[in-house]
Amino acid sequence: MKRIYDVVIVGSGAAGLTAALKLAPHMRVAVLSKGEMAAGSTRQAQGGIAAVMEATDSIQSHIDDTLIAGDGLCNEDAVRFMVERGRTAIEGLINLGVAFDRGDKHQEDGYGYHLTREGGHSHRRILHAADATGKAVQKTMNERVLAEPNIDVYEHHVAIDVITNRHLESQAGYEDQAHGVYVLNLKKNRVETFSARATIIATGGASRVYQYSSNPDASTGDGIAMAWRAGCDVTNMEFNQFHPTCLFHADAKTFLITEAMRGEGAVLRGKDGKRFMPAYDKRAELAPRDIVARAIDSEMKRTGAENVWLDITHKDADFVISHFPNIYRHCLKLGIDITASMIPVVPAAHYTCGGVHVDKAARTGLSRLYAIGECAHTGLHGANRMASNSLLECLVMGNAAAEDILTRRDEATAPAFARAWDESKVIDSDEAVVVAHNWRELRRFMWDYVGIVRTDKRLARAKRRVDLLSAEIHEYYGNFRVTADLLELRNLVVVADLIVRSAQKRKESRGLHFTNDYPDLLEEARETTLVPFGQAVADRVA
Ligand code: FAD
Ligand code: SIN
Repeated sequence: MKRIYDVVIVGSGAAGLTAALKLAPHMRVAVLSKGEMAAGSTRQAQGGIAAVMEATDSIQSHIDDTLIAGDGLCNEDAVRFMVERGRTAIEGLINLGVAFDRGDKHQEDGYGYHLTREGGHSHRRILHAADATGKAVQKTMNERVLAEPNIDVYEHHVAIDVITNRHLESQAGYEDQAHGVYVLNLKKNRVETFSARATIIATGGASRVYQYSSNPDASTGDGIAMAWRAGCDVTNMEFNQFHPTCLFHADAKTFLITEAMRGEGAVLRGKDGKRFMPAYDKRAELAPRDIVARAIDSEMKRTGAENVWLDITHKDADFVISHFPNIYRHCLKLGIDITASMIPVVPAAHYTCGGVHVDKAARTGLSRLYAIGECAHTGLHGANRMASNSLLECLVMGNAAAEDILTRRDEATAPAFARAWDESKVIDSDEAVVVAHNWRELRRFMWDYVGIVRTDKRLARAKRRVDLLSAEIHEYYGNFRVTADLLELRNLVVVADLIVRSAQKRKESRGLHFTNDYPDLLEEARETTLVPFGQAVADRVA
């Protein structure tokens, strides 16, 4: 089955849908999601979106805070680009119908909107919809996209690989470029070809490469692995952000307790009930995330505790319930009344700061291939992302990619014909257990050896295991019909390899990358860019 569009967008989170809405008045667009439209992290976002909205705040202050959190590794030009466009991006969402909390029920207003505070921000500048900002954003965008006649949404469609020149029936007349994607249609259980003049990867992050993560199942780094296989550079993959406060409870999988709770006064306490953050950093609970997560890790290791405690019981119960209604309800269901009891929390993998290397127009190194949102590396986050800058980046870069595609539409050649997917040499797997086992093993050793604190030895151990699994998965992929689990595992092992190799290259501790073997910061801040060489890809085209 072949489908032809002007633009195919892989991913229906904030980044993908922003681009789709901007393109729709002018072009035919396909949006793919491997699950429901809301399968990605956008739907889960709690704290909010950072933007300069208040007279006492300034663009320079937001830039400075971002640069400090990024620990010397942000691209200042990219930071300025995002921050300067923050207000317009927010206004775009308000125009779509996103109902951010107004200031009337709270004390501090930003032109009528309540602004909360999170780690690293020196001002209140986070717009939010209670403690479920992502739900409001995703729902509004979904409604708008589904109403657009020029956009076709394909749920339960898993992109497998970018179509490049080597997949074409004839390469004549084409520069080295992307031509769309091969896609596994999960409803029909067949592989389809989506051809397009431009392809946008908006697949979110890769935090599910770790055993404990705040992310939904979809965050398996598919777009990063696909772009890597298509020949794109990948930058700064060693910088995985661990969110300091995920709920620690046997019945709660991946539930986050927003940083905004610390912004509104919650404190962290150890096993002995005492506050420990002031001893680690003068900003205490509002220090950037890398510092808070490492402090928690260190407290847990020092005292042998399985978790630490987040305490907001000193605040008025009505205040707590009105600011954090979803967290209140969720915890209450698990028997924790957060207005009266401390919340057990642990750090968990939360955000992929590195990704596919792109410029300010979201262009990758491969012509007609764009990457936006969490899967991309723009230089905004440096060595550590500041809270609530991610959704901002999704909106700004979604628009930037669409603008670039629209500006260059006259240059675009007609979509090329890719060779058909070939399943003649493969059979159905009779050993799904291999995939399940390798999934577990990978995520476990990434947590144990490539987590919050690293060493050369642990990284070398991880690398040996990644190599072994890569070989096994590569062979498996070559012999058996593709399934969603196999495709995700194939991508996860690529991402794990990129993370480990990037971490091995960094001989210092900076931002989110901390290693006991090189605890100091080098004078010169350098990005880690990995460049693909050769195509060790098992192709499935005729
Ligand atoms: P996502 O929203 O993750 O969407 C990815 C999309 O790609 C999905 O539609 C998925 O189905 C699709 N996809 C993936 N692989 C494939 C494939 N192979 N084929 C087809 N489709 C595919 N950031 C903030 O700025 N503020 C916050 O308050 C905040 N809170 C957060 C809370 C939680 C619990 C989490 C997990 C993250 C939070 N973040 C927050 C981070 C932020 O939500 C994400 O970085 C952002 O939403 C990513 O958006 P995205 O559009 O890049 O990708
Ligand atoms: C949170 O609400 O703590 C998450 C914010 C973010 O990841 O930006």
